[in-house]
Amino acid sequence: MTLKIKSLNQYKKAYKKSVKDPEGFWAEQAATFKWKKKWRKTLQWEFKSPDVKWFVGGKLNITENCLDRHLKTRGDQVALIWEPNDPSQAYKEYTYKELHTEVCRFANVLKANNIKKGDRVCFYMPMVAELAIGVLACARIGAIHSVVFAGFSANALADRIKDATCKMVICSDFNARGAKNIPVKAVVDDALKMRCKSIETVLVHRNTGEKVKMKKGRDKWLHEELEGKRKTCKAEVMDSEDPLFILYTSGSTGKPKGVVHTCGGYMVYTSFSFKNVFQYEDGDVYWCTADIGWITGHSYIIYGPLLSGATTIMSEGVPTYPDAGRFWHICEKHKVNQFYTAPTAIRALMAKGDHWPTHYDLNNLKVLGTVGEPINEEAWNWYYDKIGKGKTPIVDTWWQTETGGIMISGMGDIHPLKATHAGFPLPGIQPCLVTPDGEEIKGNDVEGLLCVKFPWPSMIRTTYGDHERCRQVYFSAFEDMYFTGDGARRDENGMYRIIGRVDDVINVSGHRMGTAEVENAVNEHSNVVESAVVGYPHHIKGEGIYAYVITDGMVKDENKFRKEVLAVVTKEIGPIAKPDKIQLVSGLPKTRSGKIMRRILRKIASGDTSNLGDISTLLNPEVVEEVKKGAKVLLSNE
Ligand code: WTA
Repeated sequence: MTLKIKSLNQYKKAYKKSVKDPEGFWAEQAATFKWKKKWRKTLQWEFKSPDVKWFVGGKLNITENCLDRHLKTRGDQVALIWEPNDPSQAYKEYTYKELHTEVCRFANVLKANNIKKGDRVCFYMPMVAELAIGVLACARIGAIHSVVFAGFSANALADRIKDATCKMVICSDFNARGAKNIPVKAVVDDALKMRCKSIETVLVHRNTGEKVKMKKGRDKWLHEELEGKRKTCKAEVMDSEDPLFILYTSGSTGKPKGVVHTCGGYMVYTSFSFKNVFQYEDGDVYWCTADIGWITGHSYIIYGPLLSGATTIMSEGVPTYPDAGRFWHICEKHKVNQFYTAPTAIRALMAKGDHWPTHYDLNNLKVLGTVGEPINEEAWNWYYDKIGKGKTPIVDTWWQTETGGIMISGMGDIHPLKATHAGFPLPGIQPCLVTPDGEEIKGNDVEGLLCVKFPWPSMIRTTYGDHERCRQVYFSAFEDMYFTGDGARRDENGMYRIIGRVDDVINVSGHRMGTAEVENAVNEHSNVVESAVVGYPHHIKGEGIYAYVITDGMVKDENKFRKEVLAVVTKEIGPIAKPDKIQLVSGLPKTRSGKIMRRILRKIASGDTSNLGDISTLLNPEVVEEVKKGAKVLLSNE
């Protein structure tokens, strides 16, 4: 049995052991899984390249651990509940046995369509059960899944397909989201017009049933392919360090990079962290509201829960459809015990009024979780009081796409609660704070750049197709440390509080975005000469997107221009990257070497122009006054 920590004392002991003898600690955890062949060496590592390997030489298949392993003990227990967008439509349940069968059938469809171990398969799908099944089907046969959030544009999808040279795309006809049906297959069609030469097959899941175009020879209906497929499928033998999936995420520079996670370590860590953070007990019903297009959905809707033999819910809809009581309705309906969501959703629901949760029975809730961005005190308190009724612990889980699993967090009610503080590192995680010069800041009541100084099983192994980029982004800033890109405080008791990104990444509604990416999109507008994008505080989204734009002087109608810019960004990236504010400026504050002074732009966008620091060294100090004035007008139109 995986170690299940039940008290603060036990946590302290486990933590100590995990630092003193990391290999012994993780070997014990790993031994609780089903291996086809035991590993020779628990850990081999150096951060310089980086080269990190866990459970070296071990052979396994993660789906045998998610599914087969449970068949004898809990075959008839519900593994997955799928809750539709429209509450009047029936929900679906899959027992472990049924899920096993569905995954095997799907895996046989992949095989019949020439997908083999190591091939990349792209998913561009809404939150339908077939997405979870398909992902597991890939893992079953050793194909590498690359799930692309279905809100991204055709351009963004094409970039990701090309980067990973995917052989297949799996999508649905449409996405039922709130009151709207959003085209999905049509976006794939557009993407595939952009020289995605590697794609051989498009598998289409019939979801809403609306008509879509099917290209002969390339496009196939999933339900037709499933007909007559065998209900068993041998699990491919995978090495611990074989890639399990690629997931694209944004950074400070360049295009999104494909974070690669591997089979063995990811399995051990997602299961361990799931059980401990959420204090999951047999028979509990767990619900994470994330989308499988992001890491939270991978690790804590699919893998972590299923590895732990849990009952996991996935929901298709949005928090406010048909009304702002939808989350609480689902909690009541399925007697949810652990509920995991993002601060942006909490803030959005909080704004709809306190009465919504009062209409539902939330007494089954034992643990509330939050993830994706810093949670502000007001939202924390509302979550605690109105949802948790002042008695349910909140776990504020800090982690990243690159970390694969939760790194710093409470565990149920084991740790003391402190609003806005993620808390303590999980066993096996060795975070530290450093100065910009890379010196470790010891002691408590301190602030610095958040790094991790020892490997953990589910850490990023590489960025797909570009290992040097992985080294440069995460391992070059500080010697022998993984740099997170976040700033953090450690309080007088050693509890961590994440302050937010210290690089040019912004966090909009819990979605990571590189400012450079948005700038590149904005610059695609023919009248844009140059742009600078920064984040600014937004009451619901956490951070909003603020774009300063220099135009070629040909813009006659500013509002029309703004709309066009939004359309360009939607086309290049997707609606999630649309700037909330667009300010036309005649110049951008620059250093003498021509670098945009983002610090000044961030401050102005935040509405604080009190102390911009020394601007006399700028190349063009005169623009600052103009930028300030324009921002004041723009920000007053909230
Ligand atoms: C931020 C999401 C504060 C952080 C799992 C990190 C958080 C980025 C928290 C990763 C939290 C995530 N408190 N900030 N509990 N969780 N973040 O890759 O800035 O989508 O670097 O992974 O989200 O975002 P990603």
